[in-house]
Amino acid sequence: MDQKSKTIQNMFNKISKRYDLINKLLSFYQDKRWRKKAIKLANINESHTVLDLTTGTGELIKSVLKKVTPKYIIGADFSIDMLNIAKEKINEEDFVAADAQHLPFKNELFDRILISFGFRNIMDKDLALKELHRVLKKDGRLIILELTQPRFKPLATIYNLYFNNILPFVGGFISGNSKAYAYLPASVDRFYKKEELYELIEKARFNDINFSELNFGIATITTAVKAT
Ligand SMILES: C[S@@+](CC[C@H](N)C(=O)[O-])C[C@H]1O[C@@H](n2cnc3c(N)ncnc32)[C@H](O)[C@@H]1O
Repeated sequence: MDQKSKTIQNMFNKISKRYDLINKLLSFYQDKRWRKKAIKLANINESHTVLDLTTGTGELIKSVLKKVTPKYIIGADFSIDMLNIAKEKINEEDFVAADAQHLPFKNELFDRILISFGFRNIMDKDLALKELHRVLKKDGRLIILELTQPRFKPLATIYNLYFNNILPFVGGFISGNSKAYAYLPASVDRFYKKEELYELIEKARFNDINFSELNFGIATITTAVKAT
């Protein structure tokens, strides 16, 4: 694994114990609602095989299982400490340690792949998308929920003030890791604009690419279908 990915892995290991609490507080309890929306767009049924990539503490799987029991569901993440919390919360067998850039799954295994708040953190997104394409069945659906920059200027100003100043301070204070919560706004700022993300996903041979903005674009759900 490259050094930058190792740094990210290390960071999530360190903040794992406080991750759920901080997520709720800093998103004003919107994170759960946003995951639910992503799950709705995934349209999962009992016959589906589902991968929750960058599963973290398993919050997305927890929400899926409240709604439907798919044929097979697994959460993958490279942070062992985040996974340990997910395993305690849900079930040991539902999780596997894996790097999104080198997935330990056979070709065309999944009907649905969901990624909530994790795509931004993956270092080599081209490589990850290649892997996602490989493990997804034809006509399978990819759903990416990610924090984004709101486009409405006055909101963007207030949001950036909160995101760049208050959030790193509160997150750093509660987690004891100020670096991790300084990284968060920087990573959202660096994240792709819609057009760039569209291009990246299309290049990886997905089509039907659509965006749903949440809370005026503070978060965005991207959906795409494996074309060939
Ligand atoms: C912000 S958390 C999101 C966790 C969860 N999906 C949620 O909705 O709360 C990002 C997660 O991505 C994981 N991650 C980042 N890069 C990864 C990679 N290359 N392979 C696997 N997991 C990765 C981190 O370990 C972390 O658990």
